[in-house]
Amino acid sequence: MILNEKPKVCIALTLEDDLKAQISAVCDVRVADVRAPQTELVEAIYDVEGILGTPRIRADSKFFDAAPKLRVLSTCSVGFDPIDVPEATRRGVVVCHTPGVLNAAVANLTLSMIFALALKLFENESYARSGGWARREKPPGLGRDIQGKTLGVIGFGRIGQEVTRRVQALGMRTLWSDVFDHPPEGAPESESRPLDALLAESDFVSLHTNLGPSSHHMIGAAELNRMKPGAFLINTARGPLVDQKALSRALETGQIAGAALDVLESEPPDPEDSIVRLPNVICFPHIGSATEETRRAMRELAVQNLLDVLAGKLPPAPVNPEVLA
Ligand code: DGY
Repeated sequence: MILNEKPKVCIALTLEDDLKAQISAVCDVRVADVRAPQTELVEAIYDVEGILGTPRIRADSKFFDAAPKLRVLSTCSVGFDPIDVPEATRRGVVVCHTPGVLNAAVANLTLSMIFALALKLFENESYARSGGWARREKPPGLGRDIQGKTLGVIGFGRIGQEVTRRVQALGMRTLWSDVFDHPPEGAPESESRPLDALLAESDFVSLHTNLGPSSHHMIGAAELNRMKPGAFLINTARGPLVDQKALSRALETGQIAGAALDVLESEPPDPEDSIVRLPNVICFPHIGSATEETRRAMRELAVQNLLDVLAGKLPPAPVNPEVLA
């Protein structure tokens, strides 16, 4: 029998050398191609106790069947919607994620979207760049002030609160709606509203909630219909929170003024999907946490989560800590 055998782990995430070395010091590491299809990853996990990955990994019961020795699945993301957490819990697998360290990055992107939509930044930039200004063509119409407008935040967790603080500093009024009635401890002062009332009162509606069975398509045709005709929808959370077909219709008919989307129902989108090309939509390729510093902090936290569980310690960010109890 081999004594003190290092636990085997599979890394399906691009990692800096120092973080890789931290893992290799205590684990037997197998590196999986992060771009490869999941079928390849599934073949590489039959004997591993830990997996470090991204939301590209769809962990359902078949995935867990392929990794019978698994003790920890550490995802380098705050969202863990592609992971069947109850199934992981049943199998004694600790799921960990990376909350907190990306709050500011996502809040800043949300603010950038508010500015871009309200001030028509992209239309004006392309008017200048394409020579429209030089040719004295008709400029894009005027933008709108941000101060005095109302932002409705759906999901008053860490990121929703961070966005609220920032827009209040810009003179915006804020509302929030969530599954809970009382504001979380430490949350900024903001008025709570049932979802329908928030949609009807807001000039900007921003989504900051988790994706799960109860929030899937929480914004559909009926909800879009409740929004003000001049309102904007912002989604930096998860694409399937919004019924994208209904949103496309609402944007095409001018039922709402516009949308800023960092996430879509299918990522990357189908090349035929026109939502990314609508004139009143600005769309980004899921860059909410995509700054050097934030991504590094996420990777550090994900590695810490992995190593702590393997060492029998409580990790900093478990999703299902009951497995360790
Ligand atoms: C997250 O951390 O959940 C980001 O959306 C990346 O998936």
